[in-house]
Amino acid sequence: MEIYEFGQRLIREAGDFIRLRMKKDFRIDAKLNPNDLVTDVDRETETYIYDRILERYPDHRIIGEEGHGTDIEDTEGVLWIVDPIDGTLNFVHQLQNFAVSIGVYVDGRPHCGMILDVMNDHLYHAKAGEGAFKDDIRLAPLEDTDLAHSLVSLNSNWVVREGIGQAFTKVVREARSTRSYGSAALDMAFTATGIVSATLFYRLHPWDYSAGMIIISEVGGRTTNLLGEEIDVLKKDSILAGNQAIHGELVGYFDSDASFIESHRRTHGEK
Ligand code: IPD
Ligand code: CA
Ligand code: CA
Ligand code: CA
Repeated sequence: MEIYEFGQRLIREAGDFIRLRMKKDFRIDAKLNPNDLVTDVDRETETYIYDRILERYPDHRIIGEEGHGTDIEDTEGVLWIVDPIDGTLNFVHQLQNFAVSIGVYVDGRPHCGMILDVMNDHLYHAKAGEGAFKDDIRLAPLEDTDLAHSLVSLNSNWVVREGIGQAFTKVVREARSTRSYGSAALDMAFTATGIVSATLFYRLHPWDYSAGMIIISEVGGRTTNLLGEEIDVLKKDSILAGNQAIHGELVGYFDSDASFIESHRRTHGEK
């Protein structure tokens, strides 16, 4: 069985694991601040996925949000990038609208990406060069749209943030409307299906975007940071993903704003 097939089976098993585990009590802890939560289910699911991958592929490497692979600094060989629960706040408050996200890179090149919408049991997946799917339905290539006629996914936290809010505010004003689903991986999966035309984040981690980037690229979309620069899959960065036309239009909102660029450089460094 190939990595891609194994990954799809594994992510569905991880979904089964979560659905069973969440019926029992679980502990909720705060991480960096009172709104940054993690649960036993996040940690146990990451360990479940980690153990399964290494059982099958002892020489593969794994980075996970909840502590695996913190020493990994290069993309040599096969690298799995895992978010065991993306949308932990949704998991805690809603017990729905969260995902498992797994991106696989081989020698730094995209290999395959999988995003499981756990409670709706939909799997968004793609292998580089072979197209993208929602379950077994092939996704259509993205059509170009402009911001004025598009829904874009954008978290309001960034709109009220000093130094960067003005650029996001302009996007909100010009868009047909905005959405925010509370799981970056699902925002990206929805971008790949075209139900939103773009998704924007000021800061994401590799486990949030690594799978989504591959799926979006397989439907002809583009993912860069908000300044239009390429993403390094080992680094935190801002993310702008969407069809080619809206992507180009949206970069213009950010790379023409000197104070946004300065804040971005301060947060993410020079490219
Ligand atoms: C978070 C979600 C959320 C995004 C945050 C992420 P987590 O991931 O993807 O939508 O706005 O930036 O950290 O912590 O729930 O895995
Ligand atoms: Ca988290
Ligand atoms: Ca996440
Ligand atoms: Ca997570």
